[in-house]
Amino acid sequence: MFENPENERKMKNILTLVSGNGTNLQALIDAERQSGLGQGTIAVVISDKLNVFALERAENAGIPAFTLLPDKNLPKQERRLDLSNRILAKALALQIDFIVCAGFLSILSGDIIAVYASRMINIHPSLLPKFGGQGMYGEKVHRAALDAGERESGCTVHFVDAGADTGQIILQRIVPVFSNDTPQTLAERIHVQEHAAIVEAVRRLV
Ligand code: GAR
Repeated sequence: MFENPENERKMKNILTLVSGNGTNLQALIDAERQSGLGQGTIAVVISDKLNVFALERAENAGIPAFTLLPDKNLPKQERRLDLSNRILAKALALQIDFIVCAGFLSILSGDIIAVYASRMINIHPSLLPKFGGQGMYGEKVHRAALDAGERESGCTVHFVDAGADTGQIILQRIVPVFSNDTPQTLAERIHVQEHAAIVEAVRRLV
């Protein structure tokens, strides 16, 4: 009888998308090394920015990593689609099973959303649906939570859909907000929870 090569490939390939420092990527790398990511393995890392530290983290771990940039002559919406299509083409060529946006700041659109429906997740540093959406990333999210007088904040891992931060929630982790918090102190407290959340979500996903 013929073996189906797909069945033989036991480990599921994970593409991790990054834009910056890559501490969430590092949490995944460390988790895979220490106790595994279930049936998953980080097969490749793609950045939408040149020379970010996340790429160095990947290289240090022996994971292939590279940057994909959209055609900068295109208008904004088309640029988004162009980058999404480039990522999709790579993901298909590399037989990627799951995509993890781990500190990835571009918004994806086009075919990748349907092709990787329920197989693509994102981590966001707030308790969605609060403080999400276009332009809400990094310090802005934490400043908005503080300005709103929130007593709690946290992070959310959710499936990626055609909206910005609107996909089905997989899990959330909550932290307290203190009266003397700055966006930086709140971000640091949430970051610790993000690292646990992303590992847990990836293990559940694969
Ligand atoms: C993380 O806090 C992540 O939740 C956030 O960017 C940071 C990246 O940190 N993502 C977003 O805001 C997405 N809208 P990292 O590069 O150290 O993982």
